[in-house]
Amino acid sequence: MSAGQPGRRLGILLSGRGSNFQAIAQQCVAGRLNAQIVVVISNRADAAGLEAARAMGIPSVVIPSQGVERVAHDRMVAEALDEAAVDYVILAGYMRILSAWFIQHYPQRILNIHPALLPAFPGLDAQHQAWEYGVRYAGCTVHFVDEKMDSGPIIDQAVVPVLESDRAEDVAARILAEEHRLYSEAIGKVLQGGWRVDGRRVLFER
Ligand code: GRF
Repeated sequence: MSAGQPGRRLGILLSGRGSNFQAIAQQCVAGRLNAQIVVVISNRADAAGLEAARAMGIPSVVIPSQGVERVAHDRMVAEALDEAAVDYVILAGYMRILSAWFIQHYPQRILNIHPALLPAFPGLDAQHQAWEYGVRYAGCTVHFVDEKMDSGPIIDQAVVPVLESDRAEDVAARILAEEHRLYSEAIGKVLQGGWRVDGRRVLFER
């Protein structure tokens, strides 16, 4: 089984909660995203996202990464993705740095969401970094994945205000709500085609 319309085939990689995965799955099931999630892969057996995948009847696979050499692990993940014949690889809280081998295996076919307005605040705990810095606006970024962390060409971004009364958790929650909307929209634009990557820019035909 898989979640969604018989459109393009998405493979999800996650390591934790999986709320972005669930938001995308809901859009697929509702027919607002012309795609189906054909496999969910986690490097952690305890990822809550796996439970959600099972509840939705989506095939899920655990490929533990602890103690496994990076490329060897990535090859196992790619094998599972290729077996499921995915068109796009969607990173949804996948807490692993991908090898150059993996990225070259799926040129311009890996998407990620980062909870900051890149290139500001790459890396871990981006929402907290932004709050600590005192920004007035924060947000999230959907981008193609290249060989550097949180650095590939930007597909779309969303902005949220940071209020003086906010704590870091409030900012994170406001960003997360936007992530859930933005990721599906950005995937939809990519699936529609009619775009090209020109240096750092993703250009969409109007
Ligand atoms: C999100 O904040 C996402 O931007 C980041 O990791 C988090 C994953 O959350 N890459 P969830 O597992 O999708 O709930």
